[in-house]
Amino acid sequence: MSVTDFGSAYARKPPNYNAKLTEVGRGTPMGELLRRYWHPAGIAADAGATPRPVKVLGEELILFRDGQGRAGLVYPRCCHRGTTLYYGKIEERGIRCCYHGWLFDVEGHCLEMPCEPNPSGPQCQRVRQPWYPVEERYGLVFAYLGPPEKKPVLPRYECLEVMGPGEFVEADDSSIGSGGIVIAPCNWLQHFENVVDPYHVPVLHGTFSGPQFVEQMATFPKVKFEYGPRGVKATSIRPGPNGKRFRRITEAIVPTLRLVANPRVAQYGMVESIGWTLPIDDTHYRIYVAGRVKEKGELAKFKSRYNGKTWAELSPEEHQQFPGDTEAQVGQGAITFHSEEHLMSSDQGVSMLRLFLRKQVDTVAAGGDPVGVAFDEESAYVKFDAGQFLDEV
Ligand code: FES
Ligand SMILES: [Fe+2]
Repeated sequence: MSVTDFGSAYARKPPNYNAKLTEVGRGTPMGELLRRYWHPAGIAADAGATPRPVKVLGEELILFRDGQGRAGLVYPRCCHRGTTLYYGKIEERGIRCCYHGWLFDVEGHCLEMPCEPNPSGPQCQRVRQPWYPVEERYGLVFAYLGPPEKKPVLPRYECLEVMGPGEFVEADDSSIGSGGIVIAPCNWLQHFENVVDPYHVPVLHGTFSGPQFVEQMATFPKVKFEYGPRGVKATSIRPGPNGKRFRRITEAIVPTLRLVANPRVAQYGMVESIGWTLPIDDTHYRIYVAGRVKEKGELAKFKSRYNGKTWAELSPEEHQQFPGDTEAQVGQGAITFHSEEHLMSSDQGVSMLRLFLRKQVDTVAAGGDPVGVAFDEESAYVKFDAGQFLDEV
């Protein structure tokens, strides 16, 4: 064999991915870690008077809001004889199954069995429709899909609690991080680890597809990666205006939070939004964002432009010519083959995040509590370092 034959595609090994870090189903190592935290299952308006099918961590569920305004999240198969509550009717006290009319409240209690001689009789207590706890905050409906005895307090985040003049918090679910597809057909970790991959910014967003962000972002930064108490942080230093230093900190925080200051505006200060990377299942994710804004609808407006268009307006040819985060991450495949990767020094943030997550997975598997779960309000108040700053030098 001549030396030029090495590396032929014929010689490649069967590929595989790291299931421990990527798969999210019940009973899987990562699935059990993720189930120790609250995840957004929808924006507040998704919980309404029409049962809405949602999928969270690989579980099909029905989201609704009863006549008293309480959001509920239940397993779709009715505990009577199994038709789906998708066809249910929402009433004052809960959701009523279309088949024989059993009525369930937002916690799955059966309140009525109308075909029985005594519809509200003691037989109602013999069943319970499987349900999950939900809590609403920041315009999002958060769900807890984990073991009930381990349910943590739903955190409050300083960047969504401390308002500047005229600011309020709104939620958005209209795209992945920087403009793009709504539901991405690939594994959630491909997006989450991108948060601590600052070197892709000048390439993918700065030069390859034409400038997608503010001009400063097109230069290669000097980057420092660090572990924090809840995840990994990347600090990128670039020359700023008027001889100042432009310091941008992004953080990937357990379980799936992306803390990325809006790269489309040169606004300085604490990060203004949180993005939750929701694993829909092993091969789909979407992003829910809550952020401080001054105008209603502001979050949805911050979309990258590619060739002067939004992602949804691009033709297939333009998607190829002007790729963004969606193309790059979905392009890695449904679940990227970790066995075929070659991580380099610039991938340090990615390696650190995987290691951090693996430790948490092992902690949960050993019966412990992962980082960032809090069981009292005081410890559930979270501050981040993320943001964009101009430093005097
Ligand atoms: S199947 Fe739901 S009430 Fe019978
Ligand atoms: Fe990006």
